Amino acid sequence: MGKLLSPHTLAGGFDGLAQRVHDAPLAYLDNAATTHMPVAVREAMEAFERRHRANIHRGVHTLSERATQAFEDAHTTLKRFVGAGAQHELVFTSGTTESLNLVAHGLSDAGFAPPVLRPGDEIITTALEHHANLVPWQVAARRSGARLLVLRPDVEGRLHADDLARLLGPRTRVFAVTACANATGERPPYEALLALAAEAGAFTVLDAAQAVGHEVPQLSQLDCDFMAFSGHKMYGPMGIGVLAGRRAALERLAPLRFGGDMVEWVSESEASLAALPARLEGGTPNVAGAVGLAAAADFIDVTGRDAIDAHVRALRAHAVQRLSTLPGVTVLARHASASAIVSFVAADVHPHDLGTLLDARGIAVRTGHHCAQPLLACLGVGPTTRASFAIYNTHDEVERLADAVANALQVLR
Ligand code: ALA
Repeated sequence: MGKLLSPHTLAGGFDGLAQRVHDAPLAYLDNAATTHMPVAVREAMEAFERRHRANIHRGVHTLSERATQAFEDAHTTLKRFVGAGAQHELVFTSGTTESLNLVAHGLSDAGFAPPVLRPGDEIITTALEHHANLVPWQVAARRSGARLLVLRPDVEGRLHADDLARLLGPRTRVFAVTACANATGERPPYEALLALAAEAGAFTVLDAAQAVGHEVPQLSQLDCDFMAFSGHKMYGPMGIGVLAGRRAALERLAPLRFGGDMVEWVSESEASLAALPARLEGGTPNVAGAVGLAAAADFIDVTGRDAIDAHVRALRAHAVQRLSTLPGVTVLARHASASAIVSFVAADVHPHDLGTLLDARGIAVRTGHHCAQPLLACLGVGPTTRASFAIYNTHDEVERLADAVANALQVLR
């Protein structure tokens, strides 16, 4: 591990973690839901609010110019972060959910121009998805008269390119897939899946929410039209996220929000749209959030993408190894080594009871369906207990987790 990853630096860098919960040191293992923010990110946002706060694009005064520059700089930083090339563009949204809704709505809405999706077209998503990459497609299918098909995993939760090849057809217009399943930690072979779908002529959509904090997908290396992620799962603020992708594809989207800042000119009866990215960023944006997200991207790069990825993978492997030895415990997607998420079920024990006993020892995990009910139904399990790791977590915390689960199982059985 490099210098920036020393326990001292990390402890000082994440002050929200240096607290006790129920009189125990906090072990925050709910990073797939939200990571903590380094002090540096908060300071970047505070500096913007204190010294540069003004609305963007609409003023000639100094603060407005500074705020506009800060927002544009944030675009530049995030584009570099996701490996955008000259053919790519990036818009800020409120998070992954808004980004995916923007794509699904934008391809099916007939309000501004003829939509991409037409009756009889086919949309393919997968059973691994968070509800945010499924429900918007259900709605888009209903709105447009398209058919929604679902690529299902094998019994261990893996997706296979052969199965996708069988679903693709001449009417496939969209293929949407996750870069990491939030309920199991499965990391699908999304590079191959996106390439296959692109070859078949589909628009390709990648939900990178659970990957971007440790394995940042690079647009220039992917057949990806649209990629969505959130700031708060990559050490950044809540309420800010990204939709990035091929400019030509983003231009096919009907905006979700019409109004100020996203139009070129307006008459009483008509309007023409501004160029990207403004056309998809209608209204006053979350400028402090964009500044914070750029600082979070810098934090990841300064810390080292590979170092973060190696660290969370090692924690996951350690947790899988310890949890698997506990009686009646089944770890989902055990094989998923490229992941920061471990999700498990324990026979005869409800995850909420388990999570409550873990919390009593200062250990924060998430329990339930994780907004991924179709996946858990496919795998034939109910709600799970999920621990998820970030750069500040330690192997000691994994040991505490495993010991506390073992103890809770004895109490609850
Ligand atoms: N989507 C977030 C999760 O997986 C909230 O927990």
